[in-house]
Amino acid sequence: DLPALARAHGVDLGVAVAVEPLLRDGDYQDVVEGHYTSVTAENTMKWEHVQPERGVFDWSGPDAVVGFAEDRGMNVRGHTLLWHNQQPEWLSQGEWTSDELRGVLREHMEALMGRYQGRIGAWDVINEPFEDGGPFLRENLWYQVLGEDYIAEALRMAHEVDPQARLYINEFNIEGGGAKADALYALAADLLDRGVPLHGIGFQSHFVHGQVPENLAETMTRFTDLGLEVTVTELDVRIAEPVSEEAVQEQREEFRHVVAACLDVPACQGVTVWGVSDAHSWIPEWFPGYGAATPFDEDYAPKPALWGMVDAL
Ligand code: XIL
Repeated sequence: DLPALARAHGVDLGVAVAVEPLLRDGDYQDVVEGHYTSVTAENTMKWEHVQPERGVFDWSGPDAVVGFAEDRGMNVRGHTLLWHNQQPEWLSQGEWTSDELRGVLREHMEALMGRYQGRIGAWDVINEPFEDGGPFLRENLWYQVLGEDYIAEALRMAHEVDPQARLYINEFNIEGGGAKADALYALAADLLDRGVPLHGIGFQSHFVHGQVPENLAETMTRFTDLGLEVTVTELDVRIAEPVSEEAVQEQREEFRHVVAACLDVPACQGVTVWGVSDAHSWIPEWFPGYGAATPFDEDYAPKPALWGMVDAL
């Protein structure tokens, strides 16, 4: 029983969920509640869904996800408050002064974090602040209007809105170290030096089969040595098509390795898998030519990857 094993280790094993199947598909629900201890909303808490028009909020999806989790004693990770993608047009196309944009951000945080205060323990406040491959801050809307200190401002604001929430920066292409991880490390160290309320680093962990970093636990430990917690927030391991049975077998060890790395790092809070099954994974659409990235196949049958996670626990 995976949830019991995860709880015995004091970590969460989570999964990203989509609202439609979560409400309507019994097999999907069974996979989620039978194998995981926490959920992340794959899309429905993102800005374009929560506040599609200024001041107009849609709580149907977020309420469904949080309600599903609470009914089953599962935890919820909040994803995400500031990101350059999936912003509504009124926000991304708006002509903002810095004070206006601060006001808009505060309204959004008060509405979203406020609604689930005490029910969502950790928030990805800042998502993907660095350029895809490089060590430089992305010049997103927030950077353009507020300057590079938007990250500190947003974290402080989030802490005012929900003083109990664990506040994260969530990033990808950092898991094996390198220039981008170094830049994130320098940013995190600077924020902590300045007393900014940053509590954790999310390691997205969108991996490619055959390239899962050996040194994941070491990279996490660099950050936990700063006094931060870490979480593997969006794990998947995509396989190039045609997907061979051999690759699917090898994926077992890759999922085992990631969960084991988290267990090796005392301040690692858990591992969230990005997608309930291969039929729901974002990978085929976003990385054409790849698939089979999750622990369940298109018919909800467990794959070796699932047993890899069990092996680690
Ligand atoms: C992805 C979702 O899985 C897709 O359904 C959506 O179309 C695009 O976003 N990093 C993140 C996630 O932080 O929010 C992204 O989720 C995947 C990359």
